[in-house]
Amino acid sequence: MENKIDQNKIPRRILSSGEEIPCMGLGTFGSDKYGAEKVSEAVYGAIKYGYRLIDCASVYQNEEEIGKVLHRIFSEKVVERKELFVTSKVWNDMHGEGEVLESCGKSLSDLGLEYLDLYFVHWPFPNYHAPGCDGDARNPDSRPFSVDEFMTAWHQCEELVDKGLVRYIGMSNMTIPKLEAVLPLCRIKPAALEMELHPSFQQPELFEYAKAHDILPIGYCPIGSPSRPERDRTAEDVVDTQLPAVAEAAKNHQVHPAVICLKWAVQRGQIPIPFSVKPDQYISNLKCAVEDPLTKEEMEAIAKEDKNCRLVKGQVFLWEGAKGWEDLWDLNGEIVTK
Ligand SMILES: NC(=O)c1ccc[n+]([C@@H]2O[C@H](COP(=O)([O-])OP(=O)(O)OC[C@H]3O[C@@H](n4cnc5c(N)ncnc54)[C@H](OP(=O)(O)O)[C@@H]3O)[C@@H](O)[C@H]2O)c1
Repeated sequence: MENKIDQNKIPRRILSSGEEIPCMGLGTFGSDKYGAEKVSEAVYGAIKYGYRLIDCASVYQNEEEIGKVLHRIFSEKVVERKELFVTSKVWNDMHGEGEVLESCGKSLSDLGLEYLDLYFVHWPFPNYHAPGCDGDARNPDSRPFSVDEFMTAWHQCEELVDKGLVRYIGMSNMTIPKLEAVLPLCRIKPAALEMELHPSFQQPELFEYAKAHDILPIGYCPIGSPSRPERDRTAEDVVDTQLPAVAEAAKNHQVHPAVICLKWAVQRGQIPIPFSVKPDQYISNLKCAVEDPLTKEEMEAIAKEDKNCRLVKGQVFLWEGAKGWEDLWDLNGEIVTK
């Protein structure tokens, strides 16, 4: 492996508490393509190279294997626990009274950790679908967003902070109307918002809203998730790495267009969490944050490539009576309640 990256060179983002965290993390969702062993091996290599932020979730079905690797990392004294920033997320079938506490307990035990740095409510619905299910699959128990149900999950997240099991809590896959409804009810505010962000889907309003509320935006699918399964693709989806401004910058900087998507994300100010199990990829991904930045003109050209192209539509979470995946995202500025 190439020499480790110099931690002092990695740009930092600041949480509302004032704590600094790295400007990029490693995603761990192997989807149908990469199994738990492969993903955990990448976590090992990535931490050795210099990644300090690892984005986990119970639904990724690999926390146990990642836990073994973390144990190895600590035994080999690659890093101490306090140098890492590990996130996890509660899945949609564990939002009920007591269940968030139980699910967090399971993630902690699988990961072999005494605390998590950040714990997310993965989706703002208790609507379950089995991992890997078909895009047309629907659960008859699915229902629209409910402030009360969400707060039942959130108050348990707050309890996890009180108990010292989690340092920060966050929300994911939210919209501005949902945030407007729940933020005033939070005793502990979200420190971060995990949201889909890539050049063809920049979510400028939600991005600015998060920043204005001192919530750090963490960007998932930062490369446009080129390896996502067929069932998660539609004919309208844009390929980020082929966008003209991205391709042009890649030529200028002599790097893969994926790397340009990450440079853009870091320079814009979100925390991208690219997934990769390939050392040459995850090394160049983190390295790109410390060298050869995009010019102002390149940043502006990529800003103009926004196509409002959401890739993770979430259609499997739809309820009976919903018109289409757009209902999950409150596109008319109001929470869709039926
Ligand atoms: N909160 C949520 O609801 C949510 C939803 C989705 C994802 N996430 C998180 O976000 C993470 C990232 O999202 P994602 O995995 O869907 O998409 P992504 O990071 O945009 O794309 C990952 C894929 O990009 C390719 N890639 C990575 N680095 C590259 C490089 N330097 N050059 C060329 N290709 C490169 C790899 O494809 P190949 O393997 O084919 O080479 C890799 O599998 C997930 O792992 C997960 O942690 C969260």
